[in-house]
Amino acid sequence: MKKETRVTHHPKVAIPPGNEALVDPIYRSVKYTYPTIESALSVDARKEGFDYTRDANPTTRQLEILCAELQGRDDSVAVATGMAAVWLAVIANLEAGDRVVFFVEGYRPIRAMARERLVRFGIEFSMLSVHDHEAIEASFKEDQTKLVVFEAPTNPMLQVPDIEKIVGFAKRNGVTTILDNTFGGLHNHGSYELDYFVHSLTKYASGHGDVMGGAVIANKDKIAKIKPWAINMGSTMDPGAAYLILRGLRTYYLRYRRHSESALTLARHLEQHTRVKRVFYPGLSSDPGNILAEKQMHDCGGVFSFDLDADGATTWAFIDALELFHTASSVGSTESLVAPVQLYFARDLSEAEAGVAQISESTVRLSVGLEHTDDLIADLEQAMAKAFA
Ligand SMILES: Cc1ncc(COP(=O)(O)O)c(C=O)c1O
Repeated sequence: MKKETRVTHHPKVAIPPGNEALVDPIYRSVKYTYPTIESALSVDARKEGFDYTRDANPTTRQLEILCAELQGRDDSVAVATGMAAVWLAVIANLEAGDRVVFFVEGYRPIRAMARERLVRFGIEFSMLSVHDHEAIEASFKEDQTKLVVFEAPTNPMLQVPDIEKIVGFAKRNGVTTILDNTFGGLHNHGSYELDYFVHSLTKYASGHGDVMGGAVIANKDKIAKIKPWAINMGSTMDPGAAYLILRGLRTYYLRYRRHSESALTLARHLEQHTRVKRVFYPGLSSDPGNILAEKQMHDCGGVFSFDLDADGATTWAFIDALELFHTASSVGSTESLVAPVQLYFARDLSEAEAGVAQISESTVRLSVGLEHTDDLIADLEQAMAKAFA
């Protein structure tokens, strides 16, 4: 064989039977082959085999199986981002003329999906408060309402929806439930009879802020319904991303627990602070969502928001003065982040909607990382001193 040919047909290194790599390889190959066309068409090949990575890939499949297991369901589809996961679960379950229920307390790009995009395809929406059970039930009773998309807790104000109630209303009225469980995490809420979970794996699952991904998790029949859409739309996760997320998941429980403990320490500190009007964190016993959160979740995660007793300019000065907390809009990675809530997450809300969502110019969201809490508290204090000087 000429060397020009050899560089395309590499030597094979087979690991002997019984001799295993402890870390699984990344299957980067886009294409998979069989020795004959007939074997490629066999029942086993069609059921278990791999053909083309947009359809399925062994590394991505490993992540899908793990995500399903952690969330307590039997299948999942991994996609390129969390937003791709939300889109997949939504679009594969709707037809023109259907109505979807969304919430003002939710993540802004999910509201944009309804307001700016779904309407172009004849899909209507209701934008309600996640606490307004009467309106939720009334909307579910309407014939066209087919789907509800909600978060627990919500981003950015950590509101805790009553999952049992919402699922109950939905079941009685034939509405499909989609829970964006990004903030709750893969270990929470699995016991509720939700139809689909979606996650941004960009956050706690991968945990290091260096990879993007999303997953839709459900039972097999529901995944079978949506998977062809993911394949056809090409929203497939890259196997390199799947590998990094699998690696991040090795420390998922340790990190989520530490994020939660540190967030609680900081939330308690700020709750007592003279410059803070109110802290929004369901882990605090004073929070209106605390009792529900304790029933629904094991721990509350690393994100919380608070209102400074200040105007917008002072709030921005406080954010700018922070040194360990970088200003950025993601959550769930090792480093702490801060975000001005109104500017980053609520520009689309009317005054009335912002009131319902409890967002003002002095609202700040923190994503608490894995640093020592003494250093984070010292950083908050020095920024307070500078902003209020
Ligand atoms: C609750 C929630 N859902 C979905 C997403 C979208 O995830 P991604 O950025 O991976 O698309 C985010 C991102 O912050 C989020 O917070």
